[in-house]
Amino acid sequence: MLARALTCAVVGLDGVIVECEVDISSGTSGLTIVGLPDAAISEARERVRAAIRNSGCSFPLRRITVNLAPADLRKEGPSYDLPIAIGILAGSEQVPPLPDKTIFLGELALDGSVRPTEGVLPMVAYARDFGVQTAFVPDANAAEAAIVRDVAVYPVGHLTDLVYHQRREKPIPQFHPIGLGDGVPAAGSVVDFAEIKGQEHAKRGIEVAAAGGHNILLTGPPGSGKTLLARAIPGVLPPLAFEESIELTKIYSVSGLLAAAQPLISQRPFRAPHHTISYSGLAGGGAWPRPGEITLSHRGVLFLDELPEFGSRSLEILRQPIEDKQITITRAQSTVTFPANFMLIGAMNPCPCVGKYHSVESSCPGTRHHRPAPGRQGPDWRRAAEGPPLPQPLAGARPAAPRLPCALWRDAGGGCPGGRCGRRLDGRAVGERRQRPRRYPAGTPD
Ligand SMILES: Nc1ncnc2c1ncn2[C@@H]1O[C@H](COP(=O)(O)OP(=O)(O)OP(=O)(O)O)[C@@H](O)[C@H]1O
Ligand SMILES: [Mg+2]
Repeated sequence: MLARALTCAVVGLDGVIVECEVDISSGTSGLTIVGLPDAAISEARERVRAAIRNSGCSFPLRRITVNLAPADLRKEGPSYDLPIAIGILAGSEQVPPLPDKTIFLGELALDGSVRPTEGVLPMVAYARDFGVQTAFVPDANAAEAAIVRDVAVYPVGHLTDLVYHQRREKPIPQFHPIGLGDGVPAAGSVVDFAEIKGQEHAKRGIEVAAAGGHNILLTGPPGSGKTLLARAIPGVLPPLAFEESIELTKIYSVSGLLAAAQPLISQRPFRAPHHTISYSGLAGGGAWPRPGEITLSHRGVLFLDELPEFGSRSLEILRQPIEDKQITITRAQSTVTFPANFMLIGAMNPCPCVGKYHSVESSCPGTRHHRPAPGRQGPDWRRAAEGPPLPQPLAGARPAAPRLPCALWRDAGGGCPGGRCGRRLDGRAVGERRQRPRRYPAGTPD
């Protein structure tokens, strides 16, 4: 008996429909999976066998062959468990034949419960374009799947639920998204510009950079508020459009970073990786290419605090994505392109001994501290201060953040002396961005 269940694979940020064909014939009992499965799929044999038995059904003691088509596409991850299991149950006539235009996604636990899986949003979105009208997904991923309109989403908590649903004994209620609406909330951030005292020069630089989506380097002595200023930047960026939110949600879904409670990314990301980050952590990579920090900060802010501590190769890696707004990663298995349109914020002290000199104006007179001694490892401060190997826009934008006079620090009740509160700055930055299409001809890069 032959059964067919549709499912989806994710390649980069896109989906590919995968047909899970199950053939049950007489012969030595066993389950064989073909169609370029990875180790996680090969292990599905044991999970599926146990899950079917623990769901009150019987695992057919016959020769079972599962083919994941197209056979030339390498499949990874455990999300094929559910289609394989329901395909076996349909092939052994324990449930009626499976409907067309329906996909099944989910990893099975040995007891038959369905575990969440990564990349549900891009998979359901692609399936919708392919003509799929119904999706059975793990219940933890239902809110994420329901963002895709025109697809009926059914959350599956346990394989038994799906069996009863297919037998029409106890239908699973369709999942209806709650409170997503058409729009998304305005961007917010932990730090409000109104909380930052003084620093008018730096704020103005940030305002201009935020309006135009330019990169920026903050320099100043320790404690002058560089990190604070950088953390306030997402709050003055324009709110995300709905399509941008979907694009970001796909990235976070594929990376497995989407919280069940927050199915749609509605705020511009702020990513601040530590300087010990690996190259593939920064740019993306792995045998199955995954987004790196530059893609996770797409449409938001990538903040490199203590910039000179980042190795020069890490900074070199950023060059091409900053110019192209995307990165193409080629591995033996596949080639994928991830978006990387981020605003790069660097922060650094003018020199390693500036703590002693307390301000930019009276920086260290000597240069011997600024370079690692011959044969020693360490950041090259003079190179970083003179100009890290970054594109021109960043090298040009360097507002210095001087240490504040004490009077301003104590001015707790007075609010922002320059009147640049978060809201006003927000409005201005948004306004400036919206004017760009009029100022610049179509096709001008961001
Ligand atoms: N202008 C300011 N208004 C309000 N708080 C400030 C301001 N500048 C600094 N601070 C506070 O001072 C502390 C140190 O600031 P922050 O960590 O941003 O400094 P930094 O320049 O990043 O220092 P470092 O070079 O050591 O990393 C923080 O608690 C921050 O909230
Ligand atoms: Mg800092």
